[in-house]
Parts: sequence; structure tokens; C-alpha cells
Amino acid sequence: MGKDVIVACDFASAEATRAFLDRFKGESRKPFLKIGMELYYAEGPAIVREIKERGHRIFLDLKLHDIPNTVKKAMAVLSRLDVDITNLHAAGTRAMMEAALEGLTRPDGTRPKLIAVTMLTSTSQESMERDILVHEPIDEVVMRYAESAKAAGLDGVVCSPLEAGKVHFRCGAEFLTVTPGVRFAGGDVGDQQRVTTPARARELGSDFIVVGRPITAAEDPVGAYLKCVNEFVD
Ligand code: C5P
Repeated sequence: MGKDVIVACDFASAEATRAFLDRFKGESRKPFLKIGMELYYAEGPAIVREIKERGHRIFLDLKLHDIPNTVKKAMAVLSRLDVDITNLHAAGTRAMMEAALEGLTRPDGTRPKLIAVTMLTSTSQESMERDILVHEPIDEVVMRYAESAKAAGLDGVVCSPLEAGKVHFRCGAEFLTVTPGVRFAGGDVGDQQRVTTPARARELGSDFIVVGRPITAAEDPVGAYLKCVNEFVD
């Protein structure tokens, strides 16, 4: 999988998603899209099938975290949706990740890529210590979770672009880093804490950047998308 920009389709309905995607009709490059909990819980698997039929690649971001057997069975269901990437929480343990991989693998041996969320970027050192009772430095926790995901056979992690280089150093160049928290220079940061530009994310070694509001809320979403591609991919 080469470097690419993944557009976060954080919309509340199929209608809003269609209106957004219609703007890209006629563009030669079809955006790689992320479908998260909001849209999936609102519209169910039908929206995944519809977007796939439009010819987009899909990262289904449902962040599973439960007992291994439940996650295995849920992943088996998701494997039928034919998405390109899906994910879970590394905190669910290595046994859960191994079970997930087993569930996701189709009878013919193929499967979507499976990546792990390490520590959410909304979690600070302070909240991790206070609420999750983990007392190691947060960037070391991210690296250990990445190594655990790699040992379980996963394909990569979701992390900050600032951690991408270190993850590659610890887990190998082939281990995917999928990184949100991207903003254009001088753009609105919103609720993201640590942000980088698409060009900087490229320098830092991210494989995929996940970009939401800088594209979805732009006056010219297609122009904003192409600017991202131009900075990050080309
Ligand atoms: O709008 P924005 O560019 O901030 O969107 C980033 C997307 O990446 C959102 O869908 C958000 O849920 C997701 N994400 C994130 N940080 C993480 C994991 C996922 O921002 N650590």
C-alpha cells in the first residue's frame, strides 16, 4: 500500500455523505475514505457497501475492544464487507488481536489490513495515569502497544505523525502508520492537540494521513483534498 490521504467521512447520515462524495464526481482520483462509528451506527453496513460500489477504498474505523471470542466473531462479520483496512484497540490484549486476525481472515485466506489504536490522542499522560492506572511515559506505552500489535501479526497502528518514525524504527518500515491530527499551515486546529501539516507528516514517515474537517468543512473540499494529496503523496 503506497502513501495516501484518507478522508474522514464524519457525517451523521448517508444523505450528507452522498452530497459530499458527489462533489468528487469527475475527479480522476477517487479519495480513500474513513467510515467511523457515527456514520456506521447511523446507517449500518449498507453505507459501506454503497461507498464501495462507488469505487472508493475504505478504512472502517470501529475500534473494537471486547473479549477475544466476541471480537473474533465481529471481525468475521466485518470481513464480508470487503473494506481495505479496519481496526481495534491494542489495549484489548495480544490474545484479542490474534483472535481478531483469525476472525477477519476469509476462507480463501484473504483479509482486510488490520491496525491497532495505541493510546488515543485525546488521552494525556495525566489522564492515563489517573484513569487507566498506567504510569509509564505515554510515548513508551504507544511503542509497546505497537510492538504488541506487531507480535500479534497486525499490519500497523493508528498513531500521531510525531510517533510515526519511532514506530517504524521499533516495528519495521513495512509496519503501517496511519496518522490523524493533520492541519494545513495556518488552519483551524479545532480539538486536536498535537498537529502537523501534510508535508511534515510525509517527512515524519506517515504512511497514511487521516484528514477530516480541513477537507469536509472547507469551502472547496475537492481543492483541499487535492492540496493534501499534492503535499503528502506527489
Ligand atoms: O476532523 P479531523 O481531521 O480532526 O478528523 C480526524 C479523524 O481521525 C476523526 O475521524 C477522528 O475520530 C480520528 N482520530 C483522531 N485521533 C485518533 C484516532 C482517530 O483524530 N487518535
